This record gives sequence, structure tokens and C-alpha cells, in this order.
Amino acid sequence: MNLARISMAVMVMAGIAGAQDLSYEVYKAKVEPVFFKKREGHARCVSCHTAGGGAFSLQAFSPGTKVWTDAQSRKNFDAVSYLVVPGKPDESRLLIHPLAQEGGGDIFHSGGRQFANKNDPEWKVIADWIRGAK
Ligand code: HEC
Repeated sequence: MNLARISMAVMVMAGIAGAQDLSYEVYKAKVEPVFFKKREGHARCVSCHTAGGGAFSLQAFSPGTKVWTDAQSRKNFDAVSYLVVPGKPDESRLLIHPLAQEGGGDIFHSGGRQFANKNDPEWKVIADWIRGAK
């Protein structure tokens, strides 16, 4: 194996390790409920972000239910992990895109200003999960 291939392999492994460092248990218990929660003055994330909603695509609930099965949550976790930089909430698209610009977010989210600023309690829940990745 030449040097370029070795460094490529190391980069790929580092990427995989990054995703694994995010806790699925914390995600399932604390983060995922935010996507479904009815938050005062806001539409639910899940009402726009099911299949076809760009990189942030959550699984549709099975007919007649309003909970994700564990298998569905695992898929959600994988999709959401792509939008997160482990350890770095401020660099994670999941948090910066839906954040109001004057609160530290990027320019425009079609789904509105879901979080006014970084003191929003649900924003903090997600940030703690991202920061907790080792
Ligand atoms: C009213 C519909 C709507 C709601 C509610 C909504 N979004 Fe969105 N969101 C969109 C649309 C449409 C896009 C794609 C266009 C864009 O980037 O603005 C998007 C894009 C995103 C992206 C970028 C995904 C990518 O492909 O890079 C993220 C992250 C995101 N939303 C997070 C959230 C979060 C978190 C919530 C809930 C707290 C939320 N959104 C609620 C409509 C919505």
C-alpha cells in the first residue's frame, strides 16, 4: 500500500470513529423527541423533515403510530449524524441552519427560525449531545 492510500484509509477510519462517538442512547432519549415535540410558535421538525426533506430526512411513522421504532430511530440517528461535527455544536449544520441569523445561525432556513438563539432549551439539549461526543 502506498502512502496516499494509507492516509486515505486513516481519514475514512477517523470519519467512522466520529459518528460512533455520538451516543445513540442520548440521541434516542433526549434529541429525537425535539424533532417531534410541538414547540410554542413553531411547526414540528418532523412535519417537514420526512422523506425528501434534504439531508435531514427522518423516517415516516408506521401507520397508526406516532413513535419511532428502534430500527427507525437508528436510521434517523445515521441521517442526523451526517449533519453533526462530533464535539462541535457551532460547526454542526443540524444546529446552525435552523438557528436565527442574529442568534448565530446561517442565512436562511426555509423552515423558519426554529431557534432564536443558543439559549433555547432544545438547542442546548442537542448541543450537549454533540459536545458529549468523545
Ligand atoms: C415548515 C417546514 C420546516 C420545519 C418545521 C423545519 N424545517 Fe428544516 N428545512 C426545511 C426545508 C424546506 C429545508 C431545505 C431548504 C433549506 O435548506 O432551507 C430545511 C433544511 C434544514 C436543514 C439543512 C438540511 C441539509 O440538507 O443540509 C436542517 C439541518 C434543518 N432544516 C433543521 C431543522 C430542525 C432541527 C427543525 C426543527 C427544530 C426544522 N428544520 C424544522 C423545512 C422545515
